[in-house]
Amino acid sequence: MAGEKSKILIIGATGYIGKFITAASARSGHRTFALVRDTAPSDPAKAKLLDDFKSSGVTLIQGDLYDHGSLVKAIKQVDVVISTVGFLQIADQTRIISAIKEAGNVKRFLPSEFGSDVDRVHAVEPAKSLFAIKARIRLAIEAEGIPCTIVSSNFFAGYFLPTLAQAGATGLPTDKVVILGDGNTKGIFVDEVDIGTFTIRAVDDPRTLNKILYLRPPANTLTHNELVSLWEKKVGKTFERVYVPEEEVLKQIQESPVPLNVVLSICHSTFIEGDQTNFQIEPSFGVEATELYPDVKYTTVDEYLNRFL
Ligand SMILES: NC(=O)c1ccc[n+]([C@@H]2O[C@H](COP(=O)([O-])OP(=O)(O)OC[C@H]3O[C@@H](n4cnc5c(N)ncnc54)[C@H](OP(=O)(O)O)[C@@H]3O)[C@@H](O)[C@H]2O)c1
Repeated sequence: MAGEKSKILIIGATGYIGKFITAASARSGHRTFALVRDTAPSDPAKAKLLDDFKSSGVTLIQGDLYDHGSLVKAIKQVDVVISTVGFLQIADQTRIISAIKEAGNVKRFLPSEFGSDVDRVHAVEPAKSLFAIKARIRLAIEAEGIPCTIVSSNFFAGYFLPTLAQAGATGLPTDKVVILGDGNTKGIFVDEVDIGTFTIRAVDDPRTLNKILYLRPPANTLTHNELVSLWEKKVGKTFERVYVPEEEVLKQIQESPVPLNVVLSICHSTFIEGDQTNFQIEPSFGVEATELYPDVKYTTVDEYLNRFL
C-alpha cells in the first residue's frame, strides 16, 4: 500500500552502530527484523540487548552472512536491508548483494558505511585500503542495479568525544591536549542516536534514492581547536595544546601497531586532509540530513559534552 512504512532488516543489529539503527527503526514504527547469529547468546549483555529488541517489537531472525539460504529467507520478508556489519565483514557484503539479487524484492539497500565519504577521501594507509573496500562494495551494488542509499555519518560522537578527539587517547585531557595538524580543519561529530534517526528517515524517502546521505549537523561541524575551546569553557580550565605536524603524524602512523595506526590514519584524513568537509554536496550525488529533516532535534556537540561534566 502506498505510504505504508517499509519493513526493515538489519544485518549487524547487535553491533556498535547496529543497535542504534535497530532501535531507531523500531521506534519509528517500521516493522523491524534483526538477523542475528545466535538468538540465545550466553553473554548476558548480548542477551539483554536481544531482550530489549524483542520488547520494542523487533523480530529476531537466526542467520549468518556466510549462510546464503538464511540471508535470502530473511531478505524475502522485508523491503529494506540495512547492513551494519563490522570491518572484518565489509568485503563480504557481496554475499548480501547476491542474496538481494536472488530475493528480488528489495526496494533499498544501505550498506555498512557510516563514516567519511570513501569516494572523496585523501587517506593514507592503512585507512586508504579500508576505505577502498567500502568503495568496491558501492561499485558492486551499482553494477547489480540495486537501489541504495549510502549514509555518510562522519564521526560517531561516542567514539571520538570521550577523548576530545585525541587519536589513541583513553580519556579526556587532564593537562595537555594532542592535536593533529594545526587544529583548524573541521570534523563532524554525530550522536549515534541521531545517526539511527536520520538513517531510518532516509529509507523510504525518494530524495535519498541512489544518493549519499551526509550527516553534517551545522552545530557539530567543528575544528579540533573549537572542540577543545568548547570543553575548556565548560570545565573552566585551559589545556596545553600540543600540535603534531603532518610529517610527524605520518611517521607515527607508520610506526604504530594496529589498531592505533588505523585510528591515526582516519584522524589524519579528517583533521589534516579535511575529508569530512572539504567538498560541496552536489545534488547529483548527495543530500544533507539536517536540511532534509529539519524537524529532527539532533544532539549538539555542546550538549553531548555536558554528559562528561
Ligand atoms: N564513523 C565512525 O566514527 C565509525 C566508528 C566505528 C565504526 N564505523 C563503521 O560502522 C560500521 C559498523 O561498524 P561497528 O563497529 O558498529 O560494527 P561491530 O560493532 O563490529 O558489529 C558488527 C556486527 O556484525 C555482526 N556480524 C559479524 N559477523 C557476522 C556474520 N557472519 N553474520 C551476520 N552478522 C555478523 C555482529 O554480530 P555478532 O553480535 O553476532 O558478533 C555485529 O552485530 C562499519 O562500516 C564501520 O566502518 C564508523
